[in-house]
Amino acid sequence: MTFLARPLLFAIDAERAHGLTIDMLAAWGRVGTPLPARPPALPVTVAGLTFPNPLGLAAGADKDGRAIAGFFGLGFGAVEIGTLTPLPQSGNPRPRLFRLTADRAVINRMGFNNGGLAAALPRARAANRKGMLGINVGANKDAADRIADYETGVAAAAPVADYVTINISSPNTPGLRDLQHGPALAELLARATAARGTTPLFLKVAPDQEPAQIDEIAKAAIDARIDALIVGNTTVSRPGLTSPNAGEAGGLSGTPLAPLAAQRLRDFRSATGAAMPIIAVGGIDSGAEAYARIRAGASLVQLYSGLVYGGPSLPGRILKEIETLLQRDGFAIITDAIGSD
Ligand code: FNR
Repeated sequence: MTFLARPLLFAIDAERAHGLTIDMLAAWGRVGTPLPARPPALPVTVAGLTFPNPLGLAAGADKDGRAIAGFFGLGFGAVEIGTLTPLPQSGNPRPRLFRLTADRAVINRMGFNNGGLAAALPRARAANRKGMLGINVGANKDAADRIADYETGVAAAAPVADYVTINISSPNTPGLRDLQHGPALAELLARATAARGTTPLFLKVAPDQEPAQIDEIAKAAIDARIDALIVGNTTVSRPGLTSPNAGEAGGLSGTPLAPLAAQRLRDFRSATGAAMPIIAVGGIDSGAEAYARIRAGASLVQLYSGLVYGGPSLPGRILKEIETLLQRDGFAIITDAIGSD
């Protein structure tokens, strides 16, 4: 994915390649090597926070916040670390991360492997930030009271983060997605918002939802005064894949997720009456795709899997392409393009 040659990274196990990439980016972030070309300034204000540009790193790439400065150095306007749980946990047995190269996709069933909040927060506090730092929190697999874990996570992360995300959409913690419905959702949002102080709180949802569920989440998020929705996580569906690993269990991300993620963006935008900012994630691998989501109503976008195939220059290329497309369409600022379709 990064400074190591792609043929080398693709020749080794996907999780080992990811670990090497994080090590390289962490080292690079410490040295602070400047980018060859600065990304264009494309500021967007969401929830009172001014993001230097609309492209963020999605959660899961730097779960433990080891390479925050390095990822900002690639040009991202936001870096979302996590998912972090109150206690460290090892996640599911390996192998649990799979490249689907022919499909430009990834399947993962990591299961919230992370070193825990207490280990990551000092790194987040100390990191050199060139943009907004998000901290994404979740529940331990064995938690007796999962909602209490979110409450703990939000309370701990809020003083350190620019925004906190509550992630109830991972397919890899059994039962976690049940928090997306009914009384559990209302209770979760009430307790999480009570714990956030003044820090903006975002909610990350799954793309695998029926219209009635989308309406329920939208209403609950508005009622609880959540600041933004992140739409969304990986999918348990398997749209038209050809790679040998297509049958692996877990969440699918990358290019084949794009049509579903774009549809869910439109669905959540109409379910919220465009009253709540939406951060679009899923299969964004080019400036054209990022720009299409912005025109469809996204205030910000995020990516992860695109980096595996597009490499470390992808964020810079996407931002330049967005700038060109804005100029082509006569938008002076990004905000004018949001929801213009
Ligand atoms: C993820 N994603 C994720 N999301 C989250 O909220 N918490 C997490 O811990 C993780 N972990 C994770 C690990 C791996 C290996 C992948 C590929 C993805 C989901 C990620 O943030 C994003 O929502 C999806 O991957 C869709 O975007 P892309 O990858 O298609 O750009």
